[in-house]
Amino acid sequence: MQTTYHIFLHPMANRWKRYAKLLAFVLATVAVLPWLTVYFLGKLVGLRRPSFVLCSHSLAIMPGFAGDWMRTAFFRWSLSRCAWTARVSFGTILTDPETTLGHHVYVGSYCVLGAIDVDDDALIASHVSVPNGGQQHGIDRLDIPIREQPGVWKRIKIGRDAWIGERAVVMADVGEQAVVGAGAVVVHPVPPRAIVAGVPARVVGQRGARQSNVEHTSPLV
Ligand SMILES: CC(C)(COP(=O)(O)OP(=O)(O)OC[C@H]1O[C@@H](n2cnc3c(N)ncnc32)[C@H](O)[C@@H]1OP(=O)(O)O)[C@@H](O)C(=O)NCCC(=O)NCCS
Repeated sequence: MQTTYHIFLHPMANRWKRYAKLLAFVLATVAVLPWLTVYFLGKLVGLRRPSFVLCSHSLAIMPGFAGDWMRTAFFRWSLSRCAWTARVSFGTILTDPETTLGHHVYVGSYCVLGAIDVDDDALIASHVSVPNGGQQHGIDRLDIPIREQPGVWKRIKIGRDAWIGERAVVMADVGEQAVVGAGAVVVHPVPPRAIVAGVPARVVGQRGARQSNVEHTSPLV
């Protein structure tokens, strides 16, 4: 029996799409060679983080698809781990080369991410902040300024297939397949598959608890 495919679902179409993406990645790697040179020279002389931040800032303002590919290519070779299928959008700043981004991770525009781990298929909308926890500065003493009090840097993990909504601030781990509502402030770990919202974020639902009747798919995936 003969199988019929929609033109874009045909296995050959997928293969060509993958080749085209690989070619874009290779071209983008060539385009970011000046940034990679600055980064690796900085690393060589013990200035890994400042040179990374310099490159992250300047690549953040590269527009359009070309900019997306250039950021992917730079992060692929500079972060502790970054899949070549990850996307980081215009205006987003990564502040630490110890960050990891998994396969098909999407980070929207104007986000600020600290040293964090983002697992495969996680989606982060625009204007999201993920600092390293909420205790970077000690606040207990009143006789010395906050800036001089030691704090705690917590490495935040965003689980596989989680979705972080627009303008959320995430200061605790988000479990796999969890959803963080737009504008939420996450101060406690979010359990897997929980839907949380509000300030501070509280559980408002559970993924998989109801049947979906939505048939369209997001252009992001
Ligand atoms: C959280 C979200 C996914 C909705 O999940 P849901 O399971 O469909 O939740 P519901 O709409 O049934 O709402 C459940 C409750 O949470 C509240 N709620 C939903 N989203 C909220 C939010 N972002 N902030 C505060 N409360 C929220 C609802 O008011 C409702 O409360 P009620 O029961 O007292 O009326 C959605 O509201 C959201 O914030 N999506 C993010 C959108 C976004 O950022 N897009 C950017 C482009 S990627």
